[in-house]
Amino acid sequence: MNQKIMNVVGARPNFMKIAPLMAELKKHSEFDSTLLHTGQHYDEVMSKLFFKDLGLPEPDIYLRIGSANHGAQTGKIMIEFETVVEKEKPDMIVVVGDVNSTIACGLVAVKQGIKLAHVEAGLRSFDRTMPEEINRLLTDQISDLLFITEKSGEENLLKEGIEKDKIHFVGNVMIDSLLSHLEKARDSKILSDLNLKSGEYVTLTLHRPSNVDSKEQFLQILNALSEIQKEIPIVFPIHPRSKNRLNQFGFEDKLKEMPGLLITEPLGYLDFLKLLAESKFVLTDSGGIQEETTVLGVPCLTLRDNTERPVTVTQGTNLVIGNRAGSIIEKSNKILNGESKKGRSPDLWDGKAAKRIVQVLLEQNF
Ligand code: UD1
Repeated sequence: MNQKIMNVVGARPNFMKIAPLMAELKKHSEFDSTLLHTGQHYDEVMSKLFFKDLGLPEPDIYLRIGSANHGAQTGKIMIEFETVVEKEKPDMIVVVGDVNSTIACGLVAVKQGIKLAHVEAGLRSFDRTMPEEINRLLTDQISDLLFITEKSGEENLLKEGIEKDKIHFVGNVMIDSLLSHLEKARDSKILSDLNLKSGEYVTLTLHRPSNVDSKEQFLQILNALSEIQKEIPIVFPIHPRSKNRLNQFGFEDKLKEMPGLLITEPLGYLDFLKLLAESKFVLTDSGGIQEETTVLGVPCLTLRDNTERPVTVTQGTNLVIGNRAGSIIEKSNKILNGESKKGRSPDLWDGKAAKRIVQVLLEQNF
């Protein structure tokens, strides 16, 4: 009998991780795979556009959860997801990454006695004030199969008491997506649409609560941007959380004084990939972008005090520089003066991670 695998996505960074896995599962008649979208992200630009760009099938099940405080959001997902699981009775549930949908659906899976696989397991920032760190720790504790992207993941999981035979080093599914879409992304017209020249602008993304939820901290970053945009244009596809905060904190006048800072709506996957690939350098607080810039060979300055993806620093183009204005300006100027970090693609970030995951799944006794 075919094995029923339910793949779960909820928020923007999940879509590019599940797409290659869904495509690979479809090639094997041993599996019936379905896609469930919790609706944690729901806007056209945060969700729908990604399905189109990534060639993801329409979700088989869509839960329409939407935004709420963490407890309410996680609880709502659990209530709705449990009903689905009781009806569909999958043999395995696959969750990816570290968003609230990941832990919510993971918890339901194990409480229903269904096998749980976690893709992108083992990453640790060791900063428990990050909601994602809690989601990662807990999801890994309850998973039956843990697919890791870098060797640090194995060390972390073993220290936390996870049995070695549950851990599989398979590479990075997000990089599978990047490599398979890069050529198509090259055709994107985003640079001419935004009046930018290849290699002559900076891409900025910012959405972590630790950077945008405090007025003082957001202002630190704006003060740094105010200096950098005098030297080179900065493009900022803005996350809804950050947009809300800019308005709430009354930063409109500050923005008007920065003609070199170009704020756009969030972009689709292909346009964003093109924007990243052609950037002089990238300023970000995202997790995934640290990995994407490493593979693209584009210098990345991470505006955080830590990273859960250390291989992007030890082998890649990433520097973790904190979020104070002085440091952001100093490190940006270094790159503008020709001193940028070189790197290489980490082991197994070769576009074949989904294939390796499916190979492991084929060997399982459900
Ligand atoms: C979530 C993830 C984070 C991930 C990020 C990528 C958790 C805990 N956090 O954070 O790990 O890096 O997604 O984007 O799961 N909103 C919209 N439209 C949407 C979605 C959200 O307008 O489609 C607005 C709402 O005002 C919402 C706010 O953005 O309150 C934050 O959304 P939420 O999903 O709570 O968290 P993110 O900050 O997006």
